[in-house]
Amino acid sequence: MSTASSAEPARAAAPPVPPPPVLRAHALTRTYGKGDTAFRALRGVDLTVARGESLAIVGRSGSGKSTLMHLLALLDRPTTGRVEVHGTDASTLSARELNRVRNSEFGFVFQQFFLTAGQTVFENVSLPLVIAGVAPKERRRRTLEALDSLGLADKAGNRATDLSGGQKQRVVVARALVGEPSVIFADEPTGNLDTATGGQVEDILFGLRRDRGITLVVVTHDHELAARCDRSVTIADGLVVADRPAEVAA
Ligand SMILES: Nc1ncnc2c1ncn2[C@@H]1O[C@H](COP(=O)(O)OP(=O)(O)O)[C@@H](O)[C@H]1O
Ligand SMILES: [Mg+2]
Repeated sequence: MSTASSAEPARAAAPPVPPPPVLRAHALTRTYGKGDTAFRALRGVDLTVARGESLAIVGRSGSGKSTLMHLLALLDRPTTGRVEVHGTDASTLSARELNRVRNSEFGFVFQQFFLTAGQTVFENVSLPLVIAGVAPKERRRRTLEALDSLGLADKAGNRATDLSGGQKQRVVVARALVGEPSVIFADEPTGNLDTATGGQVEDILFGLRRDRGITLVVVTHDHELAARCDRSVTIADGLVVADRPAEVAA
């Protein structure tokens, strides 16, 4: 571009500013309890998650994986240290703003986030859009699209409780993606599923990453699932003890 108009010389000269990482954790600690019973579940974790990356968080049971994920997902606050989302320090956000970020930027595939038993598949999946105040017509369109993308279109009217384990987990994934999040957090997403069904759920998660550029942060015990990710971070006793491309992970 050799003919920049004189109306915008400053723009042409400005250097490109790289976008901040999706998530950045700095010196995170989390202590549960107080006094004699205090337990330091995280003892100083630094971690940066790039846009579109798939990151596995691995380590023994009790090492602090879920604690770290809850902090990254703004579901819990660190005892010390900070989490930045797209460059914004989460500790500066009000409860209302935190809710907005969780609801609009994040999707959750957690086993403890149960589907609501008495409600239909459609109602369960549309819930994040109800919370976000999306108008009914748009809500319906996006919910049906999410169900369709997970092969659940014909289950929209079923009670969530009437589904198989794999179908339920696909409903959970549909609910996680209906808000068009930039990050999906999954804690042992295939833990309760048989190998074939777990593989289907994995394929769906990695397909979302490939097709929509969604960032994936996955806590898992499953070495094969960890190996599918770009990167693997190992937690031991509340510290990051390894951070490497997943294909060379042990
Ligand atoms: N709410 C809590 N209160 C007290 N201790 C907790 C709580 N949540 C987790 N812990 C303890 O913190 C440690 C790390 O837990 P967690 O992050 O769930 O580990 P992981 O997901 O790696 O199995 C464990 O020893 C666990 O018992
Ligand atoms: Mg856990």
